[in-house]
Amino acid sequence: MSKITAPKTPPGQAPKTYRVKNFGCQMNVYDGERMGEMLDGQGLSAAPEGEDADLVVLNTCHIRERAAEKIYSDIGRMTKGKTQEKAPMIAVAGCVAQAEGEEIMKRAPSVSMVVGPQAYHRLPDMLGKAVQGERVADTDMPAIAKFAALPARKRRSPTAFLTVQEGCDKFCTYCVVPYTRGAEISRPFDDLVAEAHTLVETGAREITLLGQNVNAWSGPDGAGAHQGLDGLIREIAKIPELQRIRYMTSHPNDFTPGLIAAHAEVDKLMPYLHLPVQAGSDRVLKAMNRNHTAGGYLRLLEQMREARPDMALSGDFIVGFPGETEAEFEETLQLVDEVRYAQAYSFKYSPRPGTPAATMDNQIPIEVMDDRLQRLQARINRDQRAFNDASIGKTCDVLIERKGKHDGQWLGKSPWLQSVWFEAEPDQAALGDMVRVEIAEAGPNSVQGVLRETVAV
Ligand code: 5AD
Ligand code: SF4
Repeated sequence: MSKITAPKTPPGQAPKTYRVKNFGCQMNVYDGERMGEMLDGQGLSAAPEGEDADLVVLNTCHIRERAAEKIYSDIGRMTKGKTQEKAPMIAVAGCVAQAEGEEIMKRAPSVSMVVGPQAYHRLPDMLGKAVQGERVADTDMPAIAKFAALPARKRRSPTAFLTVQEGCDKFCTYCVVPYTRGAEISRPFDDLVAEAHTLVETGAREITLLGQNVNAWSGPDGAGAHQGLDGLIREIAKIPELQRIRYMTSHPNDFTPGLIAAHAEVDKLMPYLHLPVQAGSDRVLKAMNRNHTAGGYLRLLEQMREARPDMALSGDFIVGFPGETEAEFEETLQLVDEVRYAQAYSFKYSPRPGTPAATMDNQIPIEVMDDRLQRLQARINRDQRAFNDASIGKTCDVLIERKGKHDGQWLGKSPWLQSVWFEAEPDQAALGDMVRVEIAEAGPNSVQGVLRETVAV
């Protein structure tokens, strides 16, 4: 670890530029944006790409191994060979901050601030102290104070994340989230509708509603009637300029008939569902405390496909959960064969300190996990490629998200969340436009198409 000690700036001299480095999930991306907005409000500005920032916020993830180690090596890299004046001021935020705040303060003297995911609304106050030379940590977990204390949204992008629900009460035995993000809370309906309006006013055409258990969102609407996530989706869908709504990540046990029906009835709700199953063996699912079976999961997907026949499915898998036998792992492969995911994420089991699975018997050797992960990923890649191949010849709406590397090249997303590349003349395409593209070629991770028409909004 470097010899640099906090703070970088002489007491009283505040940093002028910042960079937020996000790790992990989309919820961290959302938090990172909001921290950026808070720092803007303090008179800082985002450091231009390629330039050093005066303040670096590491927005960390603790869900799998080595996240914490990566943070320490990042800190080392940022301060290595630098004088006290040249090194950035460093804040560690996110789930590693929550889980290992004290340890970070001890081990990394160059860190000025440690701020947990439920405490970052206090960043301006902490920054004020840090500038005076104090090292400050705040990992309090008040339920919902954060959102009310944040400044109004002002980001500009065709796609936006909106955290509607945070935390988790499910306590899957492998998972650290209930400990780092705390208990399940739903943000108030009216606040969310207002935030969605602001996001659309600043250019968003697609909103992805986020939560660790997003489909567990519930609360009273403006008239006091109880609503589930489908009620919130229906309300947000009324915003005229908003064209697409997505949500992630769901838990199989929190689906309601209303939410399934919304997929058939709300045109703006996109035909893509990220629904983790984790394993195909009921014994393993029980040991994971998932509270659902493989069969129950498959039946739910069937209902989803009935509501929306073109639904693209995505999931998460863990291989090598303690005690997982070869035969049990093969049940996971069978489930993948049955579902034919459009896309899926798979991970080697990683023992998380403090979780029940970390001390279970029969931890699986790393070579076995490596082998299983490779076999699982081969099937997932096969299906992802087949899904992309099957879109060749189809014409679909594409929401333009960014320019490509070459002049005239653009990148957008299909309704099924595929990345779609295409070319257009300057007057034919702009960020945030919805265009129709005929898919002509498919690759493993994206498809290429030909612009057919621009769609009036
Ligand atoms: N080890 C491996 N993967 C994990 N995940 C969560 N906890 C662990 C762990 N301890 C995976 C799950 C979850 C995704 C976000 O990360 O698949 O759905
Ligand atoms: Fe973790 Fe399970 Fe909660 Fe998902 S549902 S955040 S895997 S405890």
